[in-house]
Amino acid sequence: MSSAPIGIFDSGIGGLTIYHELVKMLPKEQFIYLADSNHAPYGERPPEDIERFSFVNSQFLIDKGCKLIVVACNTATTIAVKKLRQSFQVPFIGIEPAIKPAALQSSRKKVGVLATRGTLNSTLFQETYQRFGQDVETTIQVGKGLVELIEAGKKNSVEMTALLQKHLQPMIDNEVDYIVLGCTHYPFLKDQIQELTPKDVEIIDSGEAVARQTKSILKSHNLLNHSEKEKDQFYINGNPTVMNSILKEVLNIDAEVTPL
Ligand code: DGL
Repeated sequence: MSSAPIGIFDSGIGGLTIYHELVKMLPKEQFIYLADSNHAPYGERPPEDIERFSFVNSQFLIDKGCKLIVVACNTATTIAVKKLRQSFQVPFIGIEPAIKPAALQSSRKKVGVLATRGTLNSTLFQETYQRFGQDVETTIQVGKGLVELIEAGKKNSVEMTALLQKHLQPMIDNEVDYIVLGCTHYPFLKDQIQELTPKDVEIIDSGEAVARQTKSILKSHNLLNHSEKEKDQFYINGNPTVMNSILKEVLNIDAEVTPL
Protein backbone atom coordinates (compact mmCIF):
# COMPACT_ATOMS: atom_id res chain seq x y z
CA MET A 1 0.00 0.00 0.00
CA SER A 2 2.85 2.47 0.78
CA SER A 3 3.92 2.50 -2.88
CA ALA A 4 0.38 3.44 -3.99
CA PRO A 5 -0.21 6.97 -5.34
CA ILE A 6 -1.63 9.98 -3.51
CA GLY A 7 -4.86 11.33 -5.01
CA ILE A 8 -5.58 15.05 -5.34
CA PHE A 9 -8.75 16.70 -6.59
CA ASP A 10 -10.09 20.19 -7.16
CA SER A 11 -12.87 21.81 -9.14
CA GLY A 12 -10.23 22.57 -11.76
CA ILE A 13 -6.62 23.66 -11.96
CA GLY A 14 -6.42 25.53 -8.63
CA GLY A 15 -5.32 22.43 -6.75
CA LEU A 16 -2.16 22.41 -8.85
CA THR A 17 -0.87 25.06 -6.40
CA ILE A 18 -1.23 22.40 -3.70
CA TYR A 19 0.26 19.69 -5.93
CA HIS A 20 3.29 21.96 -6.36
CA GLU A 21 3.80 22.17 -2.57
CA LEU A 22 3.22 18.42 -2.16
CA VAL A 23 5.87 17.51 -4.74
CA LYS A 24 8.40 19.75 -2.95
CA MET A 25 7.64 18.17 0.44
CA LEU A 26 7.23 14.57 -0.80
CA PRO A 27 9.50 14.10 -3.84
CA LYS A 28 9.36 10.31 -3.65
CA GLU A 29 5.57 10.04 -3.85
CA GLN A 30 3.51 9.46 -6.98
CA PHE A 31 0.50 11.77 -7.43
CA ILE A 32 -2.72 11.39 -9.40
CA TYR A 33 -4.49 14.70 -9.98
CA LEU A 34 -8.13 15.06 -10.99
CA ALA A 35 -9.54 18.39 -12.23
CA ASP A 36 -13.34 18.39 -12.19
CA SER A 37 -13.44 21.35 -14.58
CA ASN A 38 -16.83 20.41 -15.98
CA HIS A 39 -18.30 21.56 -12.70
CA ALA A 40 -16.11 24.60 -11.98
CA PRO A 41 -16.61 26.91 -10.27
CA TYR A 42 -17.75 25.02 -7.18
CA GLY A 43 -17.90 28.24 -5.16
CA GLU A 44 -21.25 29.41 -6.52
CA ARG A 45 -23.01 26.03 -6.38
CA PRO A 46 -25.32 24.63 -3.69
CA PRO A 47 -23.60 22.49 -1.01
CA GLU A 48 -25.44 19.30 -2.15
CA ASP A 49 -23.79 19.57 -5.59
CA ILE A 50 -20.32 20.09 -4.12
CA GLU A 51 -20.79 17.10 -1.83
CA ARG A 52 -21.91 14.91 -4.73
CA PHE A 53 -18.97 15.97 -6.94
CA SER A 54 -16.55 15.37 -4.05
CA PHE A 55 -17.79 11.80 -3.66
CA VAL A 56 -17.48 11.09 -7.41
CA ASN A 57 -13.96 12.59 -7.48
CA SER A 58 -12.87 10.58 -4.43
CA GLN A 59 -14.26 7.33 -5.89
CA PHE A 60 -12.34 7.97 -9.13
CA LEU A 61 -9.08 8.35 -7.19
CA ILE A 62 -9.79 5.31 -5.00
CA ASP A 63 -10.49 3.25 -8.13
CA LYS A 64 -7.00 4.32 -9.29
CA GLY A 65 -5.63 2.75 -6.11
CA CYS A 66 -4.82 5.92 -4.13
CA LYS A 67 -3.69 5.42 -0.53
CA LEU A 68 -4.66 8.93 0.66
CA ILE A 69 -6.65 11.79 -0.83
CA VAL A 70 -5.87 15.48 -0.63
CA VAL A 71 -8.97 17.62 -1.13
CA ALA A 72 -7.07 20.50 -2.79
CA CYS A 73 -10.10 22.76 -2.67
CA ASN A 74 -11.26 24.94 0.22
CA THR A 75 -14.86 24.85 -0.98
CA ALA A 76 -15.03 21.02 -1.17
CA THR A 77 -13.19 20.65 2.15
CA THR A 78 -15.34 23.03 4.13
CA ILE A 79 -18.52 21.43 2.74
CA ALA A 80 -17.72 17.74 2.28
CA VAL A 81 -14.57 16.51 4.06
CA LYS A 82 -16.34 15.28 7.21
CA LYS A 83 -18.69 13.05 5.19
CA LEU A 84 -15.85 11.83 2.93
CA ARG A 85 -13.90 10.75 6.03
CA GLN A 86 -16.97 8.91 7.34
CA SER A 87 -17.59 7.14 4.02
CA PHE A 88 -14.19 6.03 2.73
CA GLN A 89 -11.40 3.99 4.31
CA VAL A 90 -8.40 6.07 3.17
CA PRO A 91 -7.21 9.17 5.06
CA PHE A 92 -8.34 12.55 3.72
CA ILE A 93 -6.36 15.78 4.01
CA GLY A 94 -8.40 18.97 3.67
CA ILE A 95 -7.56 22.61 3.20
CA GLU A 96 -8.99 25.62 4.98
CA PRO A 97 -8.24 29.35 4.78
CA ALA A 98 -5.19 30.22 6.92
CA ILE A 99 -7.04 32.55 9.28
CA LYS A 100 -5.24 31.32 12.38
CA PRO A 101 -1.65 32.17 11.31
CA ALA A 102 -2.81 35.46 9.78
CA ALA A 103 -4.63 36.49 12.97
CA LEU A 104 -1.62 35.58 15.10
CA GLN A 105 0.94 37.33 12.91
CA SER A 106 -0.94 40.46 11.91
CA SER A 107 0.58 43.41 13.76
CA ARG A 108 -2.29 45.80 12.95
CA LYS A 109 -4.78 43.05 13.83
CA LYS A 110 -6.52 43.68 10.53
CA VAL A 111 -6.87 40.71 8.17
CA GLY A 112 -8.47 40.31 4.76
CA VAL A 113 -9.93 36.98 3.61
CA LEU A 114 -10.53 36.28 -0.06
CA ALA A 115 -12.44 33.05 -0.75
CA THR A 116 -15.38 31.59 -2.63
CA ARG A 117 -18.97 32.12 -1.53
CA GLY A 118 -19.26 28.36 -0.81
CA THR A 119 -16.30 28.42 1.57
CA LEU A 120 -17.35 31.61 3.33
CA ASN A 121 -20.91 30.33 3.87
CA SER A 122 -19.82 26.91 5.16
CA THR A 123 -20.22 25.83 8.76
CA LEU A 124 -16.56 24.77 8.96
CA PHE A 125 -15.38 28.23 7.91
CA GLN A 126 -17.76 29.86 10.40
CA GLU A 127 -16.37 27.63 13.17
CA THR A 128 -12.75 28.47 12.28
CA TYR A 129 -13.66 32.13 12.04
CA GLN A 130 -15.30 32.05 15.49
CA ARG A 131 -12.19 30.44 16.96
CA PHE A 132 -9.45 32.51 15.35
CA GLY A 133 -10.97 35.50 13.60
CA GLN A 134 -12.53 37.15 16.64
CA ASP A 135 -9.46 38.97 17.93
CA VAL A 136 -8.81 40.72 14.64
CA GLU A 137 -10.79 43.03 12.43
CA THR A 138 -11.55 41.05 9.27
CA THR A 139 -12.51 42.19 5.80
CA ILE A 140 -14.14 39.23 4.10
CA GLN A 141 -14.53 39.24 0.34
CA VAL A 142 -16.05 36.74 -2.11
CA GLY A 143 -13.62 36.40 -5.03
CA LYS A 144 -16.48 36.24 -7.53
CA GLY A 145 -15.31 35.66 -11.10
CA LEU A 146 -11.63 34.96 -10.33
CA VAL A 147 -11.81 31.18 -10.71
CA GLU A 148 -13.66 31.49 -14.03
CA LEU A 149 -10.95 33.73 -15.47
CA ILE A 150 -8.12 31.44 -14.28
CA GLU A 151 -9.90 28.38 -15.71
CA ALA A 152 -10.32 30.26 -19.01
CA GLY A 153 -6.58 30.93 -19.20
CA LYS A 154 -7.07 34.67 -18.49
CA LYS A 155 -4.87 34.82 -15.43
CA ASN A 156 -2.88 37.77 -16.77
CA SER A 157 -5.63 39.76 -18.45
CA VAL A 158 -6.98 43.30 -18.20
CA GLU A 159 -10.26 41.84 -16.90
CA MET A 160 -8.37 40.06 -14.13
CA THR A 161 -6.60 43.25 -13.01
CA ALA A 162 -9.90 45.14 -12.93
CA LEU A 163 -11.65 42.38 -10.97
CA LEU A 164 -8.80 42.06 -8.49
CA GLN A 165 -8.74 45.81 -7.96
CA LYS A 166 -12.45 45.73 -7.17
CA HIS A 167 -12.17 42.81 -4.73
CA LEU A 168 -9.07 44.14 -2.98
CA GLN A 169 -10.18 47.75 -2.54
CA PRO A 170 -12.23 47.13 0.67
CA MET A 171 -9.18 45.42 2.21
CA ILE A 172 -6.91 48.30 1.21
CA ASP A 173 -9.42 50.82 2.58
CA ASN A 174 -9.51 48.93 5.88
CA GLU A 175 -5.68 48.89 6.00
CA VAL A 176 -5.27 45.13 6.43
CA ASP A 177 -1.69 43.90 6.79
CA TYR A 178 -2.48 40.23 5.99
CA ILE A 179 -4.50 38.81 3.12
CA VAL A 180 -5.55 35.17 3.37
CA LEU A 181 -5.97 33.41 0.03
CA GLY A 182 -8.83 31.04 0.86
CA CYS A 183 -9.12 29.33 -2.51
CA THR A 184 -6.46 27.13 -4.10
CA HIS A 185 -6.79 28.94 -7.44
CA TYR A 186 -5.71 32.27 -5.92
CA PRO A 187 -1.97 31.60 -5.33
CA PHE A 188 -1.67 31.83 -9.15
CA LEU A 189 -2.57 35.53 -8.63
CA LYS A 190 -0.18 36.21 -5.76
CA ASP A 191 2.23 38.48 -7.68
CA GLN A 192 -0.64 40.53 -9.07
CA ILE A 193 -2.26 40.87 -5.65
CA GLN A 194 1.07 41.97 -4.21
CA GLU A 195 1.39 44.63 -6.89
CA LEU A 196 -2.12 45.95 -6.30
CA THR A 197 -1.76 46.23 -2.51
CA PRO A 198 0.61 48.27 -0.29
CA LYS A 199 4.13 46.85 0.07
CA ASP A 200 3.77 45.88 3.73
CA VAL A 201 0.80 43.58 3.08
CA GLU A 202 1.60 39.88 3.59
CA ILE A 203 -0.24 37.35 1.45
CA ILE A 204 -0.64 33.85 2.81
CA ASP A 205 -2.13 30.59 1.66
CA SER A 206 -2.37 27.10 3.15
CA GLY A 207 -0.33 25.13 0.58
CA GLU A 208 2.75 24.42 2.65
CA ALA A 209 0.71 23.56 5.75
CA VAL A 210 -1.29 21.02 3.74
CA ALA A 211 1.89 19.42 2.41
CA ARG A 212 3.32 19.21 5.95
CA GLN A 213 0.11 17.66 7.26
CA THR A 214 0.06 15.14 4.39
CA LYS A 215 3.61 14.06 5.22
CA SER A 216 2.82 13.66 8.88
CA ILE A 217 -0.32 11.57 8.21
CA LEU A 218 1.55 9.35 5.74
CA LYS A 219 4.25 8.83 8.36
CA SER A 220 1.85 8.03 11.17
CA HIS A 221 -0.03 5.53 8.95
CA ASN A 222 3.23 3.95 7.74
CA LEU A 223 2.36 4.95 4.19
CA LEU A 224 5.50 6.81 3.03
CA ASN A 225 6.78 5.41 -0.27
CA HIS A 226 10.19 3.75 -0.22
CA SER A 227 10.16 2.30 -3.75
CA GLU A 228 10.98 3.95 -7.08
CA LYS A 229 8.63 6.87 -7.86
CA GLU A 230 6.21 6.32 -10.77
CA LYS A 231 5.29 9.19 -13.11
CA ASP A 232 2.54 11.51 -11.87
CA GLN A 233 -0.79 11.42 -13.73
CA PHE A 234 -3.15 14.29 -14.51
CA TYR A 235 -6.81 13.91 -15.52
CA ILE A 236 -9.39 16.51 -16.49
CA ASN A 237 -13.04 16.14 -17.49
CA GLY A 238 -12.98 19.41 -19.43
CA ASN A 239 -10.63 21.03 -21.94
CA PRO A 240 -6.98 20.20 -21.11
CA THR A 241 -5.39 23.19 -22.91
CA VAL A 242 -5.12 25.62 -19.98
CA MET A 243 -4.03 22.89 -17.57
CA ASN A 244 -1.32 21.73 -19.96
CA SER A 245 0.05 25.23 -20.27
CA ILE A 246 -0.01 25.85 -16.48
CA LEU A 247 1.88 22.59 -15.93
CA LYS A 248 4.53 23.45 -18.49
CA GLU A 249 4.86 27.23 -18.23
CA VAL A 250 4.08 27.95 -14.58
CA LEU A 251 5.10 24.76 -12.78
CA ASN A 252 7.80 23.58 -15.22
CA ILE A 253 6.43 20.06 -15.26
CA ASP A 254 6.80 17.88 -18.29
CA ALA A 255 3.50 15.95 -18.33
CA GLU A 256 0.51 15.53 -20.59
CA VAL A 257 -3.00 15.86 -19.16
CA THR A 258 -5.40 13.04 -19.99
CA PRO A 259 -8.91 14.25 -20.91
CA LEU A 260 -11.69 12.04 -19.52
N1 DGL B 1 -10.12 25.91 -5.87
C1 DGL B 1 -11.29 25.74 -5.12
C2 DGL B 1 -11.22 26.30 -3.73
O1 DGL B 1 -10.16 26.25 -3.14
C3 DGL B 1 -12.62 25.92 -5.82
C4 DGL B 1 -12.90 27.17 -6.49
C5 DGL B 1 -14.20 27.08 -7.23
O2 DGL B 1 -14.36 26.16 -8.04
O3 DGL B 1 -15.05 27.94 -7.01
O4 DGL B 1 -12.19 26.72 -3.16
